[in-house]
Amino acid sequence: MSNATQLIHSIPVDPLTGSISVPIYQTSTFVQEAPGVNKGFDYARSNNPTRQVLENVIAGLEGGKAASAFASGLAAIDAVLKLLESGDEILAVNDIYGGAFRLFTHIYAKFGIKVNYVDTTDIVNVLDAINSRTKLVWLETPTNPTLKISDIEAIAGIAHQNGALLCVDNTFASPALQQPLNLGADLVVHSATKYLSGHSDLIAGLVVSKTGELGDKIKFIQNASGAILSPHDSWLVIRGVETLFLRVREHSRNAFAVARFLETHPAVDKVFYPGLATHQNHDIAQKQQSAFGGIVSFTLKDDTQEAATKVVCSTRLFKLAESLGGVKSLLCHPATMTHKSIPAEKRRSAGVSDSLIRLSVGLEDSQDLVEDISQALSRVNAEIEKTKNYQYQS
Ligand SMILES: Cc1ncc(COP(=O)(O)O)c(C=O)c1O
Repeated sequence: MSNATQLIHSIPVDPLTGSISVPIYQTSTFVQEAPGVNKGFDYARSNNPTRQVLENVIAGLEGGKAASAFASGLAAIDAVLKLLESGDEILAVNDIYGGAFRLFTHIYAKFGIKVNYVDTTDIVNVLDAINSRTKLVWLETPTNPTLKISDIEAIAGIAHQNGALLCVDNTFASPALQQPLNLGADLVVHSATKYLSGHSDLIAGLVVSKTGELGDKIKFIQNASGAILSPHDSWLVIRGVETLFLRVREHSRNAFAVARFLETHPAVDKVFYPGLATHQNHDIAQKQQSAFGGIVSFTLKDDTQEAATKVVCSTRLFKLAESLGGVKSLLCHPATMTHKSIPAEKRRSAGVSDSLIRLSVGLEDSQDLVEDISQALSRVNAEIEKTKNYQYQS
C-alpha cells in the first residue's frame, strides 16, 4: 500500500458514531467512574482524544513509535531540549532557524547547555566537533533559509558512536519527502504550522520519537511543561495532513519551475534549491528525499537589503509574510524578518546574505508564479540600468 493511502486510512472513523471526520473533544476534563477508573483520559493537558489521533497519525507517517503535539514548533523543539542536563552540549547545524538559535543561545545557555554551531553539510566538520559532552546533534535538512542538505544517515552513525541522540527538524521536507527516523535519527521535530497543516491557519508543533522509551520521556515533558496543542488545532492539522502528499508533490513541481527560471535571470546571483544539479549536496538530497520541496531561495547580483526590499515589495501573487508551506505563495527577506535575531556576521557567514530572498512556492499555476517573480525582478534590473546610465552621464 502506498504511503499516501496508508496516511489517509490511518485517520480513524469515529468508533462511537461512525463520523468520517475525527470529532473535536472540546473539554478540559473527563468524568471518572471511581478515582483512577476512567476511559483512558483524565485531564485534557495530559491527554485528549482528538490530539491523540493526530499524534498517532504523525507517528505512523514518520515511522516512529510515538508523537506528541505542541502549541508551536518552538514548543516542540523546547521539549526535546528538556531531555538534556546542565553541562551537556549540542552540536547544531549552523544555518539554523532563527527561533531555534534564539532558544538555544538565549534560554538554554543560561542553564549550562552549550551549543556548537557547525557546517554539517560536510561530515568531516561533524567528526571534528563532536565530543564526549555532546548529547544531542541537531539537524535541519533542508535548512531554513539556504536549503543546505546534510547526510542524515552518516550523521546518525557519528552521533550514535559518540553516545549522542540525533534530532532532525523535518519541517521543510515533511514526511511526504523524507523520513529521518528510517535513516537513523532518534527524534524528529516539526513546525506543523507549515506543510503538515498546510493552509497557513494555525501554529503547531510535533515531536516524533523512534522508540517508546524516548516517546515516554517526551510525553512526560509535554504534560509537565504543558505547552499542548488544543483539540481544535489538532483537528485542523489532521484535516490538513490528509492532503499532504498531494500538496507537497505540487509544491515541489512548482518550486522546480520557479528555481529553473531564477537560474536564467540576469539580476539573480545564486539560486538555492536541492533539486538543481548545481546545489552543493544535490546527490545527498537525491538519496534521502523523494522530491525537493516547495522552498526556493536566491540572492541578487546587487547584494543589498535595498534591492531585496524592492523585489519583496513588488510581487503581486507572492505575499510578503513570514512562514511557509501554505497554499498561497509567500516570500520573505530573512535578514530583516525570520533571521533578524541572528547577529549579522554570524548570519552572513551561514550564507544568509543581505539580498537573500526566500520563496514559499504555493499551489497557484507555476506560469503565473514565474511571471510574478519576473515582473518584480525587472524592477531591480531597471534600477541597475538607471544607476549605470547616471554614472555614465556624470
Ligand atoms: C525549520 C523551522 N523549525 C521550527 C520553526 C518554529 O515553528 P513555529 O513557528 O511553529 O513555532 C520554524 C518556523 O518558521 C521553522 O521554519
